[in-house]
Amino acid sequence: MENKVFDESRQGEAIELSNIKDEGKKLYLESYGCQMNFSDSEVVASIMANEGFSTTRNIEEADVILLNTCSIRENAEIRVRNRLSDFRKKKDEHPELVIGILGCMAERLKKSLLEEEKLVDLVAGPDAYRDLPNLIDEVGTGQKAVNVLLSRDETYADISPVRLDQGGVSAFVTITRGCDNMCSFCVVPFTRGRERSRDPETILTECKDLYEKGYREVTLLGQNVDSYRWNITSKGEIKDGTKPTTNFSQLMEKVAQVSPQLRVRFSTSHPKDMTDEVLEVIAKYQNICPYIHLPVQSGNTNVLYRMNRGYSREWYLGRIDAIKRIIPDCAISTDIITGFCGETEEEHQDTLSLMERVEFDFAYMFKYSERPKTLAERKFKDDVPDELKGKRLNEIIDKQLGHSLKSHQRQIGTIQKVLVEGPSKRSENFFCGRNDRNSMVVFPKEKAKKGSYVLVRIEECTSATLLGKVQEYL
Ligand code: 5AD
Ligand code: SF4
Repeated sequence: MENKVFDESRQGEAIELSNIKDEGKKLYLESYGCQMNFSDSEVVASIMANEGFSTTRNIEEADVILLNTCSIRENAEIRVRNRLSDFRKKKDEHPELVIGILGCMAERLKKSLLEEEKLVDLVAGPDAYRDLPNLIDEVGTGQKAVNVLLSRDETYADISPVRLDQGGVSAFVTITRGCDNMCSFCVVPFTRGRERSRDPETILTECKDLYEKGYREVTLLGQNVDSYRWNITSKGEIKDGTKPTTNFSQLMEKVAQVSPQLRVRFSTSHPKDMTDEVLEVIAKYQNICPYIHLPVQSGNTNVLYRMNRGYSREWYLGRIDAIKRIIPDCAISTDIITGFCGETEEEHQDTLSLMERVEFDFAYMFKYSERPKTLAERKFKDDVPDELKGKRLNEIIDKQLGHSLKSHQRQIGTIQKVLVEGPSKRSENFFCGRNDRNSMVVFPKEKAKKGSYVLVRIEECTSATLLGKVQEYL
């Protein structure tokens, strides 16, 4: 999202989070990495608000600085370490300032972070946020504080997140935490622990509450939303057998019924688990966006096997065909890793040919970055030279830019329903928002209001943006 960027990997920006109030103790919170981290930061803000902290965008007035960190690639960690060095002077001048590391880096590095980064006072993993007030008290007594315990059941279900973007239109709602998939390249199962689903009633309550507060879009978040399953009956008993009481398609249907004016998005889908039932629910509701983020990672079956992804090239293409059959105008995006262990030129060509076959509307593309303790680090050699990874990545990016441009060119002359998010980056006289296929649309502001829907006739495009004029205010 243009004004709300979180994934280091994805957009290369970190964001500062605030809901400005000016009395009492101040928390400065910076979030790196994925949407899940952004969503967690809102839980952290809520826990801290109960302790009398309000969040601020002005780091100078902070009593506590928390960085919610990402470990997905080495670069993400390097950025956080560089950011920490910016705080050195501040800490020397104000030794009482508390600096904490949250999230995946905290979980991965644990106590050793305190030894490596001397100015850090506090380390808290993704399942330890309820303990933050105690940890901060501990720091107050002159000690360093660490809690990196992972939980099998923490979902923060009862915590009502403090929304950190002011006057927001679009919000994230976490539905599962952790991941059980063990893709061989991925550090997430180690940093976020076992997968667990959140009580559907609490998800629905949160979505209804957001709608009443003026939000018009929710994105249901999980590392693998398709494996969402709630197995507890209304009597509080755990249901046996294979059928959950609520699966992902049933959950999404309930969220879609909150209001036809509430757009529903979801991320991330997993090719091995995405069912036709889910696709049918997307097709059935006009307010569930026809947009699926379906990471492929590689177009070659042997590489996918080494990645432990649980599907082949053919299976993936079968899922793409199912999407196109059941939701004909569905936008599809993907994640691609290039230069994974042992990747040959032929295997790389398979990724390019799969891209040619699918024509993704959008893609996030990365060089493989070896992560400590992962299956790949233990089993395989990171043997594709960095220069070759770079060359392959450029080929993949070039192809994708062509496909993204083509996808946008096909929309020229069409009318797109856009949820207005606010002023565009280019000028105050232009507003922006997304169409339901998740493309950013920019148009002259005129009478458009943030949080309302407009119909825009598309006139021009780039590979990243659609440009047009409002035809109708809905
Ligand atoms: N190296 C490069 N990219 C990675 N991703 C996950 N782990 C790694 C890694 N070790 C990418 C995958 C995933 C996305 C969120 O990040 O493509 O889908
Ligand atoms: Fe990592 Fe795979 Fe889980 Fe995604 S599904 S978080 S890539 S282990």
